[in-house]
Amino acid sequence: MGEKGHMILRRPRRLRQNKAVRALVQETHISVEDFIYPLFIMEGEGDPEAIPSMPDVKRHTISSLVSECEESFALGIRAVALFPVVPVERKDDRGTEALNPDCLILRAVRRLKSALPELVVVADVALDPYTSSGHDGVLNEQGTDVDNDATVDILAKMSVVQAEAGVDWVAPSDMMDGRVKAIRKALDSAGHSHVSIMAYSAKYASAFYGPFREAVGSQQASGQSYLDKKTYQLNPANIRESMIEASLDIEEGADILMVKPAGAYLDILCRLREKTKLPLAAYQVSGEYAQIHAAAQQGWLDLQAVRDESLLAIKRAGADLILTYFAKDVARELG
Ligand code: PBG
Repeated sequence: MGEKGHMILRRPRRLRQNKAVRALVQETHISVEDFIYPLFIMEGEGDPEAIPSMPDVKRHTISSLVSECEESFALGIRAVALFPVVPVERKDDRGTEALNPDCLILRAVRRLKSALPELVVVADVALDPYTSSGHDGVLNEQGTDVDNDATVDILAKMSVVQAEAGVDWVAPSDMMDGRVKAIRKALDSAGHSHVSIMAYSAKYASAFYGPFREAVGSQQASGQSYLDKKTYQLNPANIRESMIEASLDIEEGADILMVKPAGAYLDILCRLREKTKLPLAAYQVSGEYAQIHAAAQQGWLDLQAVRDESLLAIKRAGADLILTYFAKDVARELG
């Protein structure tokens, strides 16, 4: 204590005084094992295609997907989530293509699993890439709403064809009622009890999905004012509603729960962390990625610093796993 200094007993700044001490008392760490890397796939051979609203993210052909996954796996990324860009002529009212064992995503899964058997391959279970409406399910006869139970029947079948192709984790992102139970039952009866369900439990009706919908071409649904995804995705104003969804997914047999988007929903993640012992995933979605890039392109934010802070915040709030388009960039730097 200096002559004129104060007698202060507790000085928290002592543990912030240099890099070494700060590292020793750091509570949260990001590691490459945290990541699930979302990837887009399209038909065709040859070069991947750029997605304007998602800098550095590509629509891959199956062969460029395999090389991207080989590089990512070598950097320590253990899991990828695949999203198909389905050609318009293969879309219809029922999302029939989702059950075609030879559809794009299933061809990609088979190629990937034979090239990288240890890579955990995750596939979305929802009909939005396959329906002409862009909705996650089939519409009722009047076209006024998504028909929950008819959709659940298709989703259960869809998860079985995905498991047959070699998918390790199915990720229902459709938000239909009762889907986790139906999927678990269908998987088990078809002999796929080893396939895990990562349930999008708290998936909000968010405007942050914009760039993704452009990337996969499912934007039709957001443009219909009479019927948007708000009849199935959660109201961004609600907390308790997501706790109910999570309880149902737990009861129905989910192995991992997910919160989506991540950044604007850290309170949900934090509350779910207190509620369940199951692993929790959070999806840093396309709009979160796009806004960081856009501000960085303007020179308004530091890309790497904001990226790392955003991921750390998601982990700190309670996520064990993070789906992020930044996965490979960060893995490269961590390595
Ligand atoms: C489809 C699905 C969506 C995303 C993941 N799965 C979009 C939607 O619900 O319209 C969004 C992911 C992102 O924005 O990065 N069910």
